[in-house]
Amino acid sequence: MAGATSTAAADAPLAATADRKIVAFCCRECAYAAADASANARTPLPPSVRLVLVPCTGRVSPLHLLSALAEGADGVMVAGCLLGQCHYREGNFNAVDRVAFVQRLLKSVGVEPERCRMFTMSAGEPPKFVAAVREMDRVIVGLPPLPRSAAGETRRASLAGSAAPGASGEPLVAQRGAA
Ligand code: FES
Repeated sequence: MAGATSTAAADAPLAATADRKIVAFCCRECAYAAADASANARTPLPPSVRLVLVPCTGRVSPLHLLSALAEGADGVMVAGCLLGQCHYREGNFNAVDRVAFVQRLLKSVGVEPERCRMFTMSAGEPPKFVAAVREMDRVIVGLPPLPRSAAGETRRASLAGSAAPGASGEPLVAQRGAA
């Protein structure tokens, strides 16, 4: 019974964030495996988080990130292998570039760039995955929700429009080394 109480207490601050939505694009080789291990250990994650399995973070384009924000997410995160340990060699370096690109786009249209973040970890680091998700949740909860009103739709439309120049292309500027 004491265990149930402490579990409920641990879950309480997480439940308060349920109205926010965070989309986490997780590399199958590391972050998703770490998420799986944390789930098997019954480690609670913030209910705001929705996991999206991707083969590699290099598969996540700026359009995926901006579309998620435009369609209802309050934050997006990309979780991949440790730098230098991508199973497809440079996928996570490309992801770092793309996240930086999206952050600049967000800032240019008046949206907080911290709504888009990149995290790296190995498959054997479930606590690091959990910490990353909780950190993202903490940041997003500290921000106002992206508007859901008609004005908000306009703002979201401007976000979606921001994706147009890079919709089929690659990041315009490379900024490697900053995870
Ligand atoms: Fe994990 Fe590329 S395989 S980031």
